[in-house]
Amino acid sequence: MPVRSALTHASPAFGTDPTVAELLAARPHLRMHAIDGLMLEQVPLDSIAAALGTPVWVTGAATLRARYHRLRSALDDAGLGARIHYAVKANDHLVILRILGAEGAGADVVSAGELRRAIAAGILPSRIVFSGVGKSDDELGLALSLSISQINVESREELERLSSLSVACGRPARVALRVNPDIDAGTHAKITTGLADNKFGIAWGEAAALYARATRLPGIDAVGFAVHIGSQIIDPAPFRAAYGRVADLVREVRASGCRVSLVDCGGGLGIGYRNESEGSPRALAHAIRETLGGLGLELVVEPGRWLVAPAGVLLSRVLLVKQGAAGSAPFVVLDAAMNDLLRPSLYEAWHGVVPLSPRDAIGPASAAHLVGPVCETGDTFARDRPMPALQAGARVAILDTGAYGAVMSSTYNARPLAAQALVDGARWTTIRARQPVEQLWAGEVVPDWLEADRSRPGYPGEVHPARTTPKTT
Ligand code: LLP
Repeated sequence: MPVRSALTHASPAFGTDPTVAELLAARPHLRMHAIDGLMLEQVPLDSIAAALGTPVWVTGAATLRARYHRLRSALDDAGLGARIHYAVKANDHLVILRILGAEGAGADVVSAGELRRAIAAGILPSRIVFSGVGKSDDELGLALSLSISQINVESREELERLSSLSVACGRPARVALRVNPDIDAGTHAKITTGLADNKFGIAWGEAAALYARATRLPGIDAVGFAVHIGSQIIDPAPFRAAYGRVADLVREVRASGCRVSLVDCGGGLGIGYRNESEGSPRALAHAIRETLGGLGLELVVEPGRWLVAPAGVLLSRVLLVKQGAAGSAPFVVLDAAMNDLLRPSLYEAWHGVVPLSPRDAIGPASAAHLVGPVCETGDTFARDRPMPALQAGARVAILDTGAYGAVMSSTYNARPLAAQALVDGARWTTIRARQPVEQLWAGEVVPDWLEADRSRPGYPGEVHPARTTPKTT
């Protein structure tokens, strides 16, 4: 059974939650200014909420660059020279890819869409790795036609198919086999990927033989192994255990005469959402050096969350405060919901919530249930959260939403996708306008026969003269 970390998931215990001051102290890119309220870098978030409305996602570019450089230095200081391939799935906005690409990051993609996004953001194919448990022929074909850096193959079936596709198009595939080390990453069950019964990677017992086969298959240039054991991992021990196993595999396969020149160490480094300390890039680099360092390998890492999560906030407004049952906390209904930020509903994830300015918090802290307006009980950001008293109209920032936030949004309950803004030091700009509501049904088609039905005698429905259903052509 994977261990559920009490630090990363909600606990009903009142009193263990960090205060606003503690949350801000752990996040140097955020601070509360006595007059301007909460600042991200040098921009008052108040001004963004006022200009763009809420809910709105805001990302700090300088914060992002600083985090990239912390990771880069940790890897360099450990003498690893590992390449950083940002996991695009964490936040795939072109601007994020542009910023990280400009700092020297490559990309780790898991679909043709992500591959095209990375290219659109200016990341060279030679700096792109394609991961994922199921890739279609079209997706593999696209990767081959672009001659990307590496394809991480996750099964025998995929390997054979890639070999045929590669031969057919005359483009060799540079391949790493993603192996499943059967290591418990100690994270949430839904984001654990390195256990034997998870769908990911090649079963450990099959890996050496499949690698030997890969070295003989036409069209395949087998270069090494990839491993990714899960996400939001803070303790370096599971990384060390997984990389140690991969190092053994490299030695075994080399001893049998096969060439191995690369190991892709995956992503997974966690952040401090609540009051846990964040995953340490230095401890990660150390774990890589201890296990894989002496093997003369080209090394790759694929971080997503650690780079972008703390750089982002989701701003929201209180729609109303509704009293609950006698003796229970009130429901503070926000204008952001599970369709915007899914993590609390899906993983019981804990996110800090901070009033946007002293004006937004008008009384001493008491417990509140923070919920969205979507028609599901699961649309809950926090239960029994100690919060300064919030009234209708108060604005809050939901913290650490730069990763797996906007990118996991849906339009459930016909709620358009929220706007996005970028702060960069003292300036800010809109990087995605709020989705116009008409766009929600813009691609929907009403068949001709239903349209014709309306003119039949005795049609019982009423037709609004300004109907907005699209016509078929
Ligand atoms: N490489 C591979 C092959 C992956 O599957 C992932 C994440 C990463 C790299 C990046 O992992 P990171 O450094 O971000 O932990 N939606 C979930 C997280 C899902 C992670 C999926 N794979 C959440 O909101 O917690």
